[in-house]
Amino acid sequence: MLSKIEQGCLVENRDNPAQEEFGMATLAVRSGQIRTPEGEHSEPLFATSSFVFDSAEDAAAKFSGGQDGNIYSRFTNPTVNAFERRLGVMEDASFCVATSSGMAAITGLVLSCLKPGDHIVASWEMFGSTVSLFSKIFDQFGIELTLVPVAHTAAWQEAIQANTKMLFLETPSNPLCQIADIKALSDLAASADALLVVDNCFCTPVLQQPLALGADVVIHTATKYIDGQGRCVGGAMVTNHEEIHDKFFSMLRTTGPSLSPFNAWVFLKGLETLPLRMNQHCKNAASVAEWLLTQPQVEEVFYPGLVEHCGHQLAKSQQTDFGGIVSFRISGGQAAAWKLINATKLMSITANLGDARTTITHPASTTHARVTADQRRRAGVDDNLIRISAGLEFSDDILADLGRSLS
Ligand SMILES: Cc1ncc(COP(=O)(O)O)c(C=O)c1O
Repeated sequence: MLSKIEQGCLVENRDNPAQEEFGMATLAVRSGQIRTPEGEHSEPLFATSSFVFDSAEDAAAKFSGGQDGNIYSRFTNPTVNAFERRLGVMEDASFCVATSSGMAAITGLVLSCLKPGDHIVASWEMFGSTVSLFSKIFDQFGIELTLVPVAHTAAWQEAIQANTKMLFLETPSNPLCQIADIKALSDLAASADALLVVDNCFCTPVLQQPLALGADVVIHTATKYIDGQGRCVGGAMVTNHEEIHDKFFSMLRTTGPSLSPFNAWVFLKGLETLPLRMNQHCKNAASVAEWLLTQPQVEEVFYPGLVEHCGHQLAKSQQTDFGGIVSFRISGGQAAAWKLINATKLMSITANLGDARTTITHPASTTHARVTADQRRRAGVDDNLIRISAGLEFSDDILADLGRSLS
């Protein structure tokens, strides 16, 4: 089957050729669009906050839910819906709901599915804001938390309690690219009657489809690879469970962190080139990782594509490639790390990742600056750690910039 999203058929309003299977590159370019009577080729941008009704009766029917149709762009918008269909199709999922950011998708999911007294098991190795959200914000709502090392399945098992309702992780994790066994954790989650949630930021559906491996929900920050050129902030929640979708959508339309139509349009176009770009990001990251391995000042390199990486075999089994992020430890502590970062000329010193431009970041003082020192230590985010998001430049130029800066 092409997809479980009913309207995720190919463009041009042709019948869905349900018997045919399409490759990811075709889905990225062609799925999700429903052409309007204007006959536009490229997807239109519906820059409107509300929609008009034929009559008061029509308005009442739509507001009551008795009749489908757009009402207000905090609830639904055709451009946002097209992005949701395309991303949903690429994850081979039944439901996708876009949000104003990746953090909004995580917040919406937890607040719509959990209640005070429930317990989450999550990994130490995650984006700093996610760790803060779980440990500081959800704590205020009475949601309990246990953090475990992401790659140690036994630790996840031990952490599960009678009130555990969710297992949450990133794989590969930010920034150390640690790999979790999605299938094994999905079995654990199922036996505990808990949801397994995977933040698929580093892989995107092009490299990994967590739902097919047993996850219940996939979280996306569209801000990264889906945009791909560092322009907009956005996110999404993807699932096959109708009940989760309904709770999430109801929370979103009431609380308001909806995706703007303009950002959705940018992401929709970003998805078209995602398979091509991911291929090149992976190639450039692999050359950076291999080159770093040969440098005497570099103490340790974290890239799942290296045979030396502890998660290499697992990454090979659940991903189609190893991603665009490489982290490494440099000898000389924070001073050496900052010196190297400051010496770069081509790379951008910025905390974003997944951009066409190679970016270089010191996680301990940026993405993980607001977590506690103990949380940083347990996540392996030491002062001498540097993260590189390999962009789409000519790879020799990236290596030359790194080489100059290291020397
Ligand atoms: C793995 C991961 N998840 C979620 C987020 C949050 O995404 P956003 O900035 O779109 O809220 C980030 C941001 O860097 C991230 O790296």
